[in-house]
Amino acid sequence: MASWQRVFDLFRRKLKHTDREFVESYLDEAGLFLFTQMSYADQKHSVKVARFLLNEGVNTKGVNLKLLLQGALLHDTGKVKGEISWFNRLIVGLIRRCFPGVREKWGQRGKSSLNHALYVDLNHPSRGAYLAESLGIDSKVVSLIKHHHDKITDGADLELILLQTADGKN
Ligand SMILES: [Fe+2]
Ligand SMILES: [Fe+2]
Repeated sequence: MASWQRVFDLFRRKLKHTDREFVESYLDEAGLFLFTQMSYADQKHSVKVARFLLNEGVNTKGVNLKLLLQGALLHDTGKVKGEISWFNRLIVGLIRRCFPGVREKWGQRGKSSLNHALYVDLNHPSRGAYLAESLGIDSKVVSLIKHHHDKITDGADLELILLQTADGKN
């Protein structure tokens, strides 16, 4: 269901008022800039990840909830609106799930639109972290953005584990 909802979200344009208010309650001006430069589909996905962490009975004891939610809202900010067509998004999603090796082999900046889409998908954590750091976003949030697709290792931050779990479910 979640996958179909994400496909459906590719064709919608604007967040509901309540979602926008939710976002504005956690992000400052720089954060809102980063959030707004994502496509609707990525904005909606990010809101779902943040709301999941808040509302689905997730144990957030001992975590910095405000920074975790900022990380949730900004984790995919390296995917800039207009860079990837909806069609390539579907193809990239398929390749990521079924042929992950192809993503690394074909991902090349600025080559064909599909090569570029694969490049963005592969590199959006480091791109997003760079953008966020440049705009003065909290270093903890920058770290969450940068590592949100890394393999979890012993001693990983609880915030990163929770973010990855919520991201995978939404
Ligand atoms: Fe991501
Ligand atoms: Fe995500």
